[in-house]
Amino acid sequence: MLDGKKLYVKSYGCQMNVYDSERMEENLQSFGCTKVDKHEDSDIIILNTCHIRHNPTANVYSELGRIKIYKDSQLKKSKRVIVIVAGCVAQAEGEQILKQAPVVDIVVGTESYHNLPDLVQKALRSSNEKFINLEFETIQKFDMLNKPRKKQSYSSFVSIQEGCDKFCTFCVVPYTRGAEFSRKTNDIINEIKSLADSGVVEITLLGQNVNAYHGKDVNNNDFTLAKLCEEIAKIDAIKRIRYTTSHPINMTGDLIKAHASIEKLMPYLHLPIQSGSNNILKSMNRKHDRDFYLRIIESLRKSRQDMAFSSDFIVGFPGETDRDFEDTLDLVKQVGYSQCYSFKYSQRPGTPADTMKDQILEEIKDTRLSILQKLLQEQFDSFNNSTLNKTLDVLFESKGKRKEYNQIIGKTPYLQAVAVDISSNTNPEDYYGKILKTTITEIKKNSLLGKIQD
Ligand code: 5AD
Ligand code: SF4
Repeated sequence: MLDGKKLYVKSYGCQMNVYDSERMEENLQSFGCTKVDKHEDSDIIILNTCHIRHNPTANVYSELGRIKIYKDSQLKKSKRVIVIVAGCVAQAEGEQILKQAPVVDIVVGTESYHNLPDLVQKALRSSNEKFINLEFETIQKFDMLNKPRKKQSYSSFVSIQEGCDKFCTFCVVPYTRGAEFSRKTNDIINEIKSLADSGVVEITLLGQNVNAYHGKDVNNNDFTLAKLCEEIAKIDAIKRIRYTTSHPINMTGDLIKAHASIEKLMPYLHLPIQSGSNNILKSMNRKHDRDFYLRIIESLRKSRQDMAFSSDFIVGFPGETDRDFEDTLDLVKQVGYSQCYSFKYSQRPGTPADTMKDQILEEIKDTRLSILQKLLQEQFDSFNNSTLNKTLDVLFESKGKRKEYNQIIGKTPYLQAVAVDISSNTNPEDYYGKILKTTITEIKKNSLLGKIQD
């Protein structure tokens, strides 16, 4: 047991890591740990790391430097602090981490978190032994997920799929998260039903290739993502369904139709294309061209006319010419996104693009990124402006940060944050978990102001 041990978890990178961090916390709490918010208060520290680009990886090593100072200071007081590196850097760099950062006691890969309680207990019993667990045990990991969950908010992530078989040439995910694996349909439904019973109203289904989901129910029937969404929509208390992240080639006809037939499926889709140039898409091994992508967007808009889209873009991929970059800008203009993420290409060891000729100079990447981001910002602003004076459904979840106002914060179907002032004698908690018709009255830089309709 780990009774009374104080646990600090820091998550880097994607939503899958946020989800995994919560599950690790819950699992260790069931062994007696309590959660703390600062590493300076802890006995056990977990860094759940991201390897997708160079910067987040480097940040982990700076954090480990700070943690070493704390660990050494505690050792002087005869207190042992256990330091764990989990996540994609752990999976990718393994033993190398122990060499580079001897402060680390445990390296645990993305598919072996269920072993953490055991590893921590062993580390605590030893004087300074190091432990590494990098097995791909996704089935056992999913079994750990089947433990009852506590409600963290009215909106909850649920992991349904892990790993990726697509092997885009820039990406580490197929190496750090392993092959595509879908969780059993009934386990997912049970988890969502229990979340619904605890008050959750919005579910975001998670997977690195979520729309490649191909589960089985207890009777061995095949379940696509579309069919899974239909089942979830039958749970009364669940009012909103989302899924992320999708690959264009898995946007099958049934899923596109599901956006028309399932009202609870939100009209907002994150559908990364990465580049608008056919040459670059080919060299990235994205397995489709720009016309294919544009046709998917068109079909989704036909299926549900209020659909909005977001995407990820990479600029400065090896060999990207000015013309290729122009094609990306052109695609962005054709689609008209509501919100996007954009990155400079970052060389990742072990991926095919790392050794490609024609790597692009950093200053060219900088220029292209700022041109693209300016265009994306214009589209973001114009999407927000288009909601002015409109009445949207807003799911209220929390209190506003500014103490002088009695303000509540919610989310539109398009994930825009909306702040609403309520009268000073009203309890904000009365609104939490409710979806209310709200008219957008003002557009701020990163949020909207609204008024609830009576
Ligand atoms: N360099 C830059 N961006 C990358 N991404 C993935 N790998 C790299 C890389 N090597 C971006 C992609 C992906 C998002 C999660 O991160 O746009 O969709
Ligand atoms: Fe990475 Fe491509 Fe798989 Fe997405 S689809 S996780 S970008 S390899």
